[in-house]
Amino acid sequence: MDIRVAAGDIARQDVGAVVVNLFKGVRSPSGATGAVDRALGGAISQLIEDGEITGKSGETTLIHTFGRIPPARVIVAGLGDRDDFSLDVVRGVTAESCRRLCGIGVQRLATIAHGAGVGGLDARSTGQAIAEGAILGLYRFDKYKSSEEDGGKIEQLTIVEFDESKAKEIEQGVSDGGIVADSVNLCRDMVNEPANFMTPARMAEAALEVARETSIELDVLERDDIRERGMGALIGVSQGSVEPPKLIVMRYLGNPDDRRVLGLLGKGITFDSGGISLKPASNMGAMKGDMAGGASVIAAMKAIGRFRPPINVTAIVPATENMPSGHAQRPGDVVRTLSGKTIEIDNTDAEGRLVLADAAAYASSIGVTHIVDVATLTGAVRVALGGVCTGAFGNNQEFTDSVVAAGESVGERIWQMPTYDDYREQYKSDVADIKNTGGSPAGSITGAMIIGEFVGDAAWVHLDIAATSMSDYTKGHNVKGATGVPVRTLIALARRTAWDA
Ligand code: BES
Ligand code: ZN
Ligand code: MN
Repeated sequence: MDIRVAAGDIARQDVGAVVVNLFKGVRSPSGATGAVDRALGGAISQLIEDGEITGKSGETTLIHTFGRIPPARVIVAGLGDRDDFSLDVVRGVTAESCRRLCGIGVQRLATIAHGAGVGGLDARSTGQAIAEGAILGLYRFDKYKSSEEDGGKIEQLTIVEFDESKAKEIEQGVSDGGIVADSVNLCRDMVNEPANFMTPARMAEAALEVARETSIELDVLERDDIRERGMGALIGVSQGSVEPPKLIVMRYLGNPDDRRVLGLLGKGITFDSGGISLKPASNMGAMKGDMAGGASVIAAMKAIGRFRPPINVTAIVPATENMPSGHAQRPGDVVRTLSGKTIEIDNTDAEGRLVLADAAAYASSIGVTHIVDVATLTGAVRVALGGVCTGAFGNNQEFTDSVVAAGESVGERIWQMPTYDDYREQYKSDVADIKNTGGSPAGSITGAMIIGEFVGDAAWVHLDIAATSMSDYTKGHNVKGATGVPVRTLIALARRTAWDA
């Protein structure tokens, strides 16, 4: 899709449809919406009068223009309450309008820059949000479909802004938004892929592609390296599978004189059957998405490699399947991690913390000073927070605050949970230093804290995306399936140089 910016009058665009907007409760539209209303002989005002257009958020009203203006259709998109207006609303209404028009076969459309006028948003961010809304909202994963289902493809989107100086800023934002949305969609593609395609080796290939495109350094440690270096927890999880594990390491050096390094660690379980502690059959297929954390950090590196912020970032993805077999690890086994600490395997289905324990120890051994690990770690986080926000857990309040703030800045909600020392009692072991489960109370917290045992002196934040990495429905910029959370947060974190909240 080609996204361009034009200065001029929206009603005069040579396109199949134009998108204007309305805040909730507005009775007589102004600005571009008002201009279109007048050109249509007051049709929009009439529909407001009739109660058919209310301006509530998510509302898209399609009006046919029957030759009164060049575009054949107008969409009036509801922006909701003026007090709740944000870039997230812009992203959402753009996505909804694009999908609606795509569904009826429109190929070229124009939109006003929602919010850059009366909404009070800055023009560049508005441009970025519109580009993100369009690219994310029109995402489809249909490579395995023999025929296109609901046809249609939007070829061109023109953002029309009356004020020429603002148009330049909007253009900048469109370019930023394109980079961000491409990365999010890369993550979605990887997560939506079935596990028979997205193996640990394929994850490494995806990282290689990113590394090539952005000249980021890439290292992939193979099974023998992983074993010889002493990452017994990662080896233990992988040993039930015929797919060899990979430890994927990507290095971006944006500020070589800075000793600080941001480490982005992502759980890369390409299929989680549970292992010998086998999961129930119902919905097990969803566990093809248990590498969403790994995909998110690889995808974020793509944007970081394009934006090139002045910060050092290292991504580490322990990638493996978790399978049952005659070679699989057993409950009761004890593994020795890279850190030297031993872990008793209480449940082979608590495998994410095991592979991340070794990844965290590896990160700290190569000089990472600030760790963000991203993982579909626990079913318990859905019980606690639902799909509404990602859970955050950390060992350093300032750094946790900057990660939460980065999420806030892009509309990816993150809610901090506690990590009191008292919870450590729950994962004491009789035979090893710790065990890999903490029982059912506070399951997300103990899961997080087990990873935290391996970060050394690094400041650390764990993001549990088990309930936010997938969506059951299409709404706003999210399309049913993989969401790409928290790619936009990770990009924002790196661009804000991580340590400054
Ligand atoms: N990958 C799962 C967590 C998960 C569940 C992600 C549902 C997405 C949707 C993880 O490896 C797991 O199995 N966790 C166990 C931990 C338990 C055995 C301590 C869980 O949550 O039940
Ligand atoms: Zn898992
Ligand atoms: Mn599991």
